[in-house]
Amino acid sequence: MPNVIVSRHPLILHKLTKLRSADTNPKKFRELVREIAGLLAYEATADLAIYPIDVQTPLAVAKGAELLEKIGLVPILRAGLGMVEGVWELMPTAEVWHIGLYRDEKTLRPVQYYNKLPIEPRVSVCLILDPMLATGGSAVATVDILKNWGVKKIKFVGLIGAPEGIENLSSHHPDVPIHLAAVDERLNERGYILPGLGDAGDRQFGTG
Ligand code: PRP
Ligand code: URA
Repeated sequence: MPNVIVSRHPLILHKLTKLRSADTNPKKFRELVREIAGLLAYEATADLAIYPIDVQTPLAVAKGAELLEKIGLVPILRAGLGMVEGVWELMPTAEVWHIGLYRDEKTLRPVQYYNKLPIEPRVSVCLILDPMLATGGSAVATVDILKNWGVKKIKFVGLIGAPEGIENLSSHHPDVPIHLAAVDERLNERGYILPGLGDAGDRQFGTG
């Protein structure tokens, strides 16, 4: 699919392997989520618009550039929270807007419980942060919310996607690029990604 970008970066693949391991404890898991998120966001922002400016070095004037676009980071609670710091370190002037969704265990449909977006967006591009794209319901709902809010340029940055979730997100929102570290085989009967990494929220917060 043209809008799915799966990283082939060796650092990401190495860290993702450690992240998947059932032996990785929550502290290390959080560290890896943060690091992989930063690396993926670096790749996902390669096309951000810039404008030229001059900068005075100690010796002379050099030609430089500044970011034109105002970036919003949108972590989907809970698991997306762990991705924020790694991305924010790279773009410290970004605004962070939280969306709270959980999956109903029976229907697997997303249920919204938190949204404090202001009436007007002050950002022109949003990076949705969520480690897992399983059925895609949470991602589709979040893009719906951001588009209704008025954001034109949206990217999804996740760690692992299932084919079902990718199909769902790209059919509902073909204009949203999907940046991932891996595409896995399928969902199990409980909507978990196989082989995946288990429950990304529980593994970060020690609640499993
Ligand atoms: C997980 C994950 C995504 C969602 C993905 O959150 O972080 O938000 O599931 O599943 P989907 O693609 O089928 O919608 P979860 O609902 O487990 O909530 P949590 O992060 O609070 O644990
Ligand atoms: N949410 C998770 O945390 N893991 C999955 O595999 C699917 C949804």
